[in-house]
Amino acid sequence: MCAHQTGRSVDTPVTPGDRPPRLGRLPVVDNTVAMLRDPLAFYDRVGDHEADVVGYNVAGTTGYFLTHPDLIEQVLVTDASDYEKGALLQRTLGEFVGEGLFLLEGEEWQRQRTALQPAFYRDRIETYGETMTDFAAATADEWDDGEVVDARPSMQALTLRILGKTLLDVEIETTADALEPLLSALRHRLDPRTLSAYLPLWVPTPINRRVNRSLSAFEATLDDIVAARRREDETTREARDDVLSLLLSMDEETMDRERLGDQLLTFLVAGHDTTSLTLSYAWFLLATHPQIQRRLHEELDETLDGATPTVADLFELPYLDRVLSEVLRLYPPAFTVFRQPARPVSLGGYEIGPDAQLTLPQWLVHRDERWYDDPDAFRPDRWTDDFESTLPDYAYYPFGGGPRHCIGMRFARMEAKLALATIAQRFAVEPVTEPPLELAMQITLSPAEPIQIRVRDR
Ligand code: HEM
Repeated sequence: MCAHQTGRSVDTPVTPGDRPPRLGRLPVVDNTVAMLRDPLAFYDRVGDHEADVVGYNVAGTTGYFLTHPDLIEQVLVTDASDYEKGALLQRTLGEFVGEGLFLLEGEEWQRQRTALQPAFYRDRIETYGETMTDFAAATADEWDDGEVVDARPSMQALTLRILGKTLLDVEIETTADALEPLLSALRHRLDPRTLSAYLPLWVPTPINRRVNRSLSAFEATLDDIVAARRREDETTREARDDVLSLLLSMDEETMDRERLGDQLLTFLVAGHDTTSLTLSYAWFLLATHPQIQRRLHEELDETLDGATPTVADLFELPYLDRVLSEVLRLYPPAFTVFRQPARPVSLGGYEIGPDAQLTLPQWLVHRDERWYDDPDAFRPDRWTDDFESTLPDYAYYPFGGGPRHCIGMRFARMEAKLALATIAQRFAVEPVTEPPLELAMQITLSPAEPIQIRVRDR
């Protein structure tokens, strides 16, 4: 499907007092049922709407889709201080990670972001390269020639092991015992198609009980790890380069016990499924585009000649970089960014009040034919320097933008490229799941069916 057929430009004059066009024929129509039944189709109806500000009404909340890069830039960058994450995100995630970087606002957010930034500086991230390739090689060791692999669970296990090691320096047994059950329970709990997503955590539904149990186990494990760290001598402690060691080196006021848990859980939730989905979609697209896969293999063979890829090698692998950019364009795991105005604002000439929910959908903007030729096609070659220099800034924003852009962007891109390079050196993939891929909008853009690939020794 193509998101935008023609598209009314933001430059079209709007008369003061005009209201944005709305989904449905009536001026205020309740779209709750349509949204819950099939969110993806709901988004596509917005894409077909030939307007850059489109109103809707879901569960008593008035919302607006913004689909023009200029409007995205206005909200995320130019006027960022006029917007907050908003009630929807607070309601959905606040119980778990309310004190984490993703949800904090204002000065407290700024203080935490500044304190955490060094954990994601280039130099620091680069020290994680070997962990990433080691775990990717271990995943390849688990695959056999001719086997059908279910890509998503395989990539979930891989990215979680990497996060367990780089965030907490724990071994894969601890990852499997304390992190995996929690993240899997949270995925179910946050699935908007289930009743649990709308009930507070204290309501004893089976899934809530599972979440509470696994949260307690996670906290107990974290307490054990922290206690063991505190017993370490200074030299051992200083030699550590995981994220936890940085958090523990902060003063108690900046990083108290509750914040520490919320921050680590934020990194796990924000960094785990997003990256494993990126890798799963990459395998699906490579399997279904053999010529592109062949070119990637050629680049890997010529550049690496069978050696394990390093961070430095990534500069010599431009095609791999384009493949990843194109995967994230077509299947952005974060399929939308949500915001709520902190005060009345003007967007595209329309006056919008502070109670409105703003939806800035990568899913639609990344497939808009105003910016992308043949937008539904997987074409890594479109990412030339010339193309990038003419593309409007916020026609592509898989990692968000402005002050709240993804702190883990460099980590995620490096991890995805090292994992793809390591595994693609050893295996070619063939499609078992055929296109078109059925998708579901959960907390991330997820496949509605398993992504199965057959793996062949190279
Ligand atoms: C392909 C993988 C990833 C994608 C597509 C992605 C996407 C995003 C997006 C779109 C945002 C902005 C949300 C907003 O403005 O409301 C964001 C924020 C964030 N991401 Fe990522 N992310 C990825 C990987 C990671 C990783 C690996 C980590 C950490 C290890 C991480 C940690 C975070 C955090 C903490 C924030 C909140 C930043 C703040 O508000 O200051 N992400 N991510």
